[in-house]
Amino acid sequence: MRLKDKVSLITGAGSGIGQAVALRFASEGAIVVIADRNLEAAEKTQYLIEQTGGTGHAIAVDVTQEQQVVDAIATTIQQFGRLDVLHNNAGISILKPITETTEADWDLLFNINLKGVFFGCKHAIPPMVQQGGGVIINTASELAIVGQSLYTAYCATKGGVLAFTRALSVEWAAKGIRINAICPGPIQTPMLQAEFNLASNPTAEEVATIQSIPVGRLGAPDDIARVALFLASDDAVFVHGAAIVADGGRTTL
Ligand SMILES: NC(=O)c1ccc[n+]([C@@H]2O[C@H](COP(=O)([O-])OP(=O)(O)OC[C@H]3O[C@@H](n4cnc5c(N)ncnc54)[C@H](O)[C@@H]3O)[C@@H](O)[C@H]2O)c1
Repeated sequence: MRLKDKVSLITGAGSGIGQAVALRFASEGAIVVIADRNLEAAEKTQYLIEQTGGTGHAIAVDVTQEQQVVDAIATTIQQFGRLDVLHNNAGISILKPITETTEADWDLLFNINLKGVFFGCKHAIPPMVQQGGGVIINTASELAIVGQSLYTAYCATKGGVLAFTRALSVEWAAKGIRINAICPGPIQTPMLQAEFNLASNPTAEEVATIQSIPVGRLGAPDDIARVALFLASDDAVFVHGAAIVADGGRTTL
């Protein structure tokens, strides 16, 4: 077990990538606090963890609300004694040409995708330093590295996550905090399904996206969870400020 008794807090763990990370961490012995603004979804993840004999604890958190993030970290430490791994994973996408993107769209994207990461890191680092170290993982995107039509504002948030992660890792490496980012390619989750309308009627551009992945398939949420597991584990002991791309080779083209 690579995360035996490690206390982890994962945001956006009620669905998709976050849920897969929660299940994989639990299967490796971690205690998992499942934080999501959708409590029912978080409780579903808790149920799935408990079905396999793991320990999960669902809490409602909106990562855009600083006090809720503070409370989530405090609850984790009160209940389980420490916080070893924080995965800032909650995120949304809004697909629009920039000329149709409203200020409200922009603010919502940045508040969830980037400010939520800032709040998580800001409030997890002090207890991690106090306990002698910790690991932070931030979910960015391949779209922090390459561009895609209609995703301009989303790309800006994820580019921000990468720059923030790199700078923060430098700031805290000497204090024993390892901070890294994951850049997933297209992963089959409810978010992507909503974007692509995969089940019913994908557009030609959507079909082209899938065909553009060298491995010839979309990613599975657990493909990303395995990367998160590596970063959370001691195997990544010398990995700081990295952006690990997991995209089936798409950004190499
Ligand atoms: N699916 C992909 O193709 C893909 C690719 C690259 C990056 N990502 C990133 O991966 C992360 C997870 O995406 P996913 O595809 O699993 O999406 P998803 O929609 O399946 O899951 C996202 C979860 O985040 C939660 N959430 C949203 N806003 C929140 C908030 N303010 N506070 C707390 N929880 C909130 C939702 O309730 C949901 O449970 C996101 O950051 C996304 O940008 C996804």
